[in-house]
Amino acid sequence: MKKIINGLSVFIEGNSKNKSIIFIHGFPYDHNMWKSQIDVLSNNYFCVAYDIRGLGESPTGDGQFTMESFVDDLETIIDELNLEKPIICGLSMGGYISLRALERMQYKFSAAILCDTRSEADNNEGKLKRAAAIKRINTEGLAPFVNDFIRNCFAEDYKKNKEAELRKIIEKSSGFCPVGVKGSLLAMLGRTDTTQNLCNIKIPTLLVCGEKDSLTPPSVMKEMFHKVPNAEYVEIKNAGHMTPIENPEEVNNAIINFLSKLN
Ligand code: MLT
Repeated sequence: MKKIINGLSVFIEGNSKNKSIIFIHGFPYDHNMWKSQIDVLSNNYFCVAYDIRGLGESPTGDGQFTMESFVDDLETIIDELNLEKPIICGLSMGGYISLRALERMQYKFSAAILCDTRSEADNNEGKLKRAAAIKRINTEGLAPFVNDFIRNCFAEDYKKNKEAELRKIIEKSSGFCPVGVKGSLLAMLGRTDTTQNLCNIKIPTLLVCGEKDSLTPPSVMKEMFHKVPNAEYVEIKNAGHMTPIENPEEVNNAIINFLSKLN
């Protein structure tokens, strides 16, 4: 079922009496990246996924986003749906939102699942890459940027064996609002570093990383894992940065195993 909350497109599956999980997608994707997880988890959990403002079916407005405004949107959804201490599950940019949300309002969550993400803010090189991406979108249009960016997210196996699926994902994201995509790039460029808060995350936390993730590699996520007191780390075989799409079975198993240990 789709709901509009503060303008955002929010997608709900499962029984609202069950424990809730809120899924936050990566860049430049939409809620559909969690389909394989929600198909399974909605049998036992109230699954809420949404399109981040400016991406997918959510409106762009003026496109002036910050990571803080993305966390504000997340908080509004949780409050409007009356979610009682949901499990927060974010991938990459969704992880940046999750990490800042955990810094700002950990008390709102009962557990966290952080997939293929990092706590460090962009360094100078990273900021210049964001600026170059915006310039490219302005000069060439959205499609060439999206094509290259998304292809870089997936491991070779997926690109070789699932070219048709990959093309569909690229085609979809190429149709997003360019101002919304650029707004997300600026929000990521300007985000704060949440590394110093990792030691304060006291809720059970699962870290998931694709063994071939070149954007947020296992070395980066293992360092995060060592800093979060109550954490588990699972490396996903045959997957790059988009683990929930590339190896849904292993990601689902990791999540189900983690959730089974929560009370
Ligand atoms: C994502 O998957 O959300 C992006 O790779 C994040 C980023 O560009 O930093």
